[in-house]
Amino acid sequence: MTYRYSQFGTHLGSGSGIGELMDDLGHALASGSPDLKMLGGGQPAPIAEVNAVWRKRMEEILAENSGLERALTLYDPPRGNPQFLTAIATLMRETFGWEIESENIAVTCGGQTAFFFLFNLLAGEMPDGSRRKILLPLVPEYIGYANQGVGADLFRAVTPLIEKNGPHDFKYRVDFEQLEITPDIAAICASRPTNPTGNVLTDDEISKLSALAKQNHIPLIIDNAYGAPFPGIIFSEATPFWEPHVVLTLSLSKLGLPGTRTGIVIGPPQLIAALGSMSAIAGLSNPNLGQQITLPLVQSGEILRLSRDVIRPFYEGKCLLAREAAQRAFGDDLNWFMHRSEGALFLWLWFPGLPITAMELYERLKKREVLIIPGHYFFFGHADEGWRHRHECIRVSYAMDKAIVQAGLEIIAEEVRAAFREIERAGK
Ligand SMILES: Cc1ncc(COP(=O)(O)O)c(C=O)c1O
Repeated sequence: MTYRYSQFGTHLGSGSGIGELMDDLGHALASGSPDLKMLGGGQPAPIAEVNAVWRKRMEEILAENSGLERALTLYDPPRGNPQFLTAIATLMRETFGWEIESENIAVTCGGQTAFFFLFNLLAGEMPDGSRRKILLPLVPEYIGYANQGVGADLFRAVTPLIEKNGPHDFKYRVDFEQLEITPDIAAICASRPTNPTGNVLTDDEISKLSALAKQNHIPLIIDNAYGAPFPGIIFSEATPFWEPHVVLTLSLSKLGLPGTRTGIVIGPPQLIAALGSMSAIAGLSNPNLGQQITLPLVQSGEILRLSRDVIRPFYEGKCLLAREAAQRAFGDDLNWFMHRSEGALFLWLWFPGLPITAMELYERLKKREVLIIPGHYFFFGHADEGWRHRHECIRVSYAMDKAIVQAGLEIIAEEVRAAFREIERAGK
């Protein structure tokens, strides 16, 4: 028997392209092959010094009077643990001078849930029957947003400018000439640093986006899953940004606690109260454990030291090694570009004129046990289907062991070279 689905069920319960791809990656990983080079996921790297902090905190929680009860046996209020909310507000006030109180903060079940709530709160079908959308000021953008709308077509994306900074270096920039805030735009959203590219929107781009949002009475949503002050996987000098019409999301995942599912949203009290309501309806309350593990670190500011002195240098070192390995593997005979690495965990590689699609490259690489994410998935909401660039890029994670990243990049270079050679031979 086949059950019928609602519109909500059709959009969320019937699978998605990226869902299938993640399944494919998961099966390859589960095969347990010793030769597998998993450069596809967004899994943060295990950092021994950071894991030691979590272990110590778990021991402290067990030893503390009613620690276990606070972490495991209670329903927190839907918007999050009051002590945790106050601690985050104080940290942000003291670190950046932002005027925020605990009414400006909501905890969600991971950043992912925060986006599901925020996007569907603001965009989609409105009570008067009109439709509103989320504007992505540039794509490629985080794949995890793509299928979150409970109705169709939640996003409108603007083609970026491509700035070439060297023989193999480039950076995307917001094309403000093309960025139009039409009345159907409900919010502007960007990840900073960006997954998949490692791009960090400049201070100038952010202040222009913020002014546009303010003028049009809509929020600017900044996804800070990788940024400052924690987890601090940001290598450029970009200034952290918040204003009363800005919704800033943070997460404990890339700090090394993805299993605790803890997202933190800082925003206008009206939207924050709505998120609390949505958390209550969808899940009663949120997981407590991440908040209890990190509470004293937030209160003492230790979370800033850990991010600045341990996590950031760890990823910056890995990034440098991966970029050097890419330079060696792709050399100067190939027409290739790598996005400037300003944060996050990924290299974003572009092969102009690639004679096969990034999806075909993915299939060829999978046969050689190298797993990456083909680039076209990150261009959702972008109307120009014919833009070849979308099929010429791939995302490669460098969170894995350096030998695996290096070997994977060498195989990617071999396959890209082979694809160009095939087309040359076919042309002769
Ligand atoms: C840019 C970005 N935003 C949000 C998330 C969601 O993370 P989580 O739900 O683990 O907090 C991720 C996860 O990889 C991400 O890369």
